[in-house]
Amino acid sequence: MKINPSNKANQFEESVIREMSRVAKQYNAINLAQGFPDFPAPDFIKKYAVEAIEADINQYAVTWGSQSIREAIADKYSNLYNLKYNPEREITVCCGSTESMIASLMGTVNEGEEIIIFEPFYENYGPDAILSGAKPVFINLKAPDFTFTEDDLKKVFNKNTKAIIINTPHNPTGKVFSYQELLLIAKYCKEFDVLAITDEIYEHILYTDKPHIPIATIEGMKDRSIIINGISKTFSVTGWRIGYILAAESLSSGIRKVHDFLTVGAPAPLQEGAAKALRVGNDYYLQLKDFYFRRRDMMLKALRDVGFSCIAPEGAYYIMTSFENFGFDNDIKFTEHLIKDIGIAVVPGSSFYRKDAEDKSKFVRFCFCKKEDTLNRAIEKLQKLSK
Ligand SMILES: Cc1ncc(COP(=O)(O)O)c(C=O)c1O
Repeated sequence: MKINPSNKANQFEESVIREMSRVAKQYNAINLAQGFPDFPAPDFIKKYAVEAIEADINQYAVTWGSQSIREAIADKYSNLYNLKYNPEREITVCCGSTESMIASLMGTVNEGEEIIIFEPFYENYGPDAILSGAKPVFINLKAPDFTFTEDDLKKVFNKNTKAIIINTPHNPTGKVFSYQELLLIAKYCKEFDVLAITDEIYEHILYTDKPHIPIATIEGMKDRSIIINGISKTFSVTGWRIGYILAAESLSSGIRKVHDFLTVGAPAPLQEGAAKALRVGNDYYLQLKDFYFRRRDMMLKALRDVGFSCIAPEGAYYIMTSFENFGFDNDIKFTEHLIKDIGIAVVPGSSFYRKDAEDKSKFVRFCFCKKEDTLNRAIEKLQKLSK
């Protein structure tokens, strides 16, 4: 009987991050594993979605996204980054950034072409590469500050490279790619005729004076960039599943076809809610930054006080830290100890690395997109950790 999973499905495992949420429930541990807020979404966005449902926007939207959200996205990118995209042909709304990434890869990359991924990486990119038939090639971001050199780029760019995935601000490390780093990557993209696919979902969650820079703003990059973003993190609505893609028409045309046959479209009333929310203005983004800044500092201090040697994240809402002071030689065992004995679920760092990567067992990731009360309870539990 032909009852086995496909060869592609056999090449990757279930998501460790999402598994950790299940294990957290099982042991009644505080979930600092999966990156979703445990506090309410802003009232304004909820109100907009309710209004849309009550106005009977309950049927399929246009496959590429409703006119209103595509126009709101175009205006946002024009206002914030002076990037002009035509909402009729260059913006596509998907079911989250997650679908945006797989649709972008399947719509642009051919079997066997190489895509460059910075490691550690958001775990979806591995399976995304396999599902799209791409050959992933990795650049290791070197701990403790997760940097790379021009030599690292030289080693991986070649004539078979189709794309490089850049996630900034970066999950899991909190790295924000600097202008100089992006300039260097852009130089190689232009030299080797390579696409830059950027996951910018944490664009407003920043803690230093380093700004978020879409690589598309660098000269000669707009037409070879695919910007991926979404409302999950900015508006604390990870369950709404609204993401979007900005890319030149020649790229968007392929991506839109894949998107159409993958999901037809993102939830129609939630697109309307998101469209209005995306016009919220800068004050909201500044408040969001402050909100997470407080939580980052709370967690950093607490982790350092009990003996973790953490690097402060520059953006996103995670702390990826080594645990060398606690006598464990392996991230899985340390994660089990945290869940079962201490009562806190985290993600073992190895889920952000290839199976055979050198650094892979040295880290765990804490997320801090939680109520202060949740973080305080976790901090109290952390006191049980002994060095
Ligand atoms: C880097 C990164 N990209 C994408 C996602 C998923 O985004 P979405 O909810 O829009 O699918 C996450 C969620 O944690 C993430 O960390």
